Amino acid sequence: MINSIFQTANTAIEKATQIVIEAYNLPKITEYKGKTDLVTQTDRQSEEIIISEIQKAFPKHGIIAEESGSSNIDSDYQWIIDPLDGTTNFVHGYPSFGISIGVMYHNEYICGIVKELPANRTYSAIKGKGAFCDSKQIHVSYVNSLSESLLVTGFGYEHGEKWKANMELFKQFTDITQGVRRLGAAAIDLCHIASGKVDGFWEFDLQPWDTAAGILIVQEAGGIVTKMDGSNYSIHHPQILATNGRIHSDMLKITKPAIENLSHQDIKL
Ligand code: IPD
Ligand code: CA
Ligand code: CA
Repeated sequence: MINSIFQTANTAIEKATQIVIEAYNLPKITEYKGKTDLVTQTDRQSEEIIISEIQKAFPKHGIIAEESGSSNIDSDYQWIIDPLDGTTNFVHGYPSFGISIGVMYHNEYICGIVKELPANRTYSAIKGKGAFCDSKQIHVSYVNSLSESLLVTGFGYEHGEKWKANMELFKQFTDITQGVRRLGAAAIDLCHIASGKVDGFWEFDLQPWDTAAGILIVQEAGGIVTKMDGSNYSIHHPQILATNGRIHSDMLKITKPAIENLSHQDIKL
């Protein structure tokens, strides 16, 4: 079963890649889901082709997709799809965006594929089988101190208390590391942890489709994923801390008080 799931996810992501790359160099028609939350026809076309590939192979499986919602929610298998992660980058021609497909069985991550575009790298993992970039096995970095680390974060579309708290974290971490990057595609950020390009990633306001594939890829590459207070991560919680494992507890010393501070203000986390 897992091999045919992996194969279907691969075929779906390759077909979606064709759609996204063809559209990349053409003018884009942009709509707004929020003040700065963009969506294009390409997001929808990419999602349609992915869903049609899944439904051809596994008509009874559940799907949670960013643009069209959920179906078969009682199925043991759930496919979680971000048809275009980093839509803002895509619209502006900034070369960092991707496509993400994660699969869960009984709430356990079993398979994840993320396409990084326009670089055309495929990051993938099957539970228990390691993580790969194209055909090469990948591993998280060996950096073991914050002072030697490079981090990455992201800022959600809502500019409320969590966003402000993240500005503070951005300052704090920038001060004690070799830098903090902000690329604008969370699924790609996670793959950069898995492949050792960056050592730690945190974000406050993510959705299941941003992380479902990436977290398995990080874990299979030897990294650790928790919430920002160190408790167990689930794709249904918006905040995440993903690292190479070696700097996890040092990052928690900074992220955990920020979370506690927000929860004292009754901010939903
Ligand atoms: C967004 C990106 C971004 C993150 C946002 C996400 P989208 O996804 O992953 O890096 O900061 O929170 O919503 O909207 O481009 O699919
Ligand atoms: Ca996304
Ligand atoms: Ca998206």
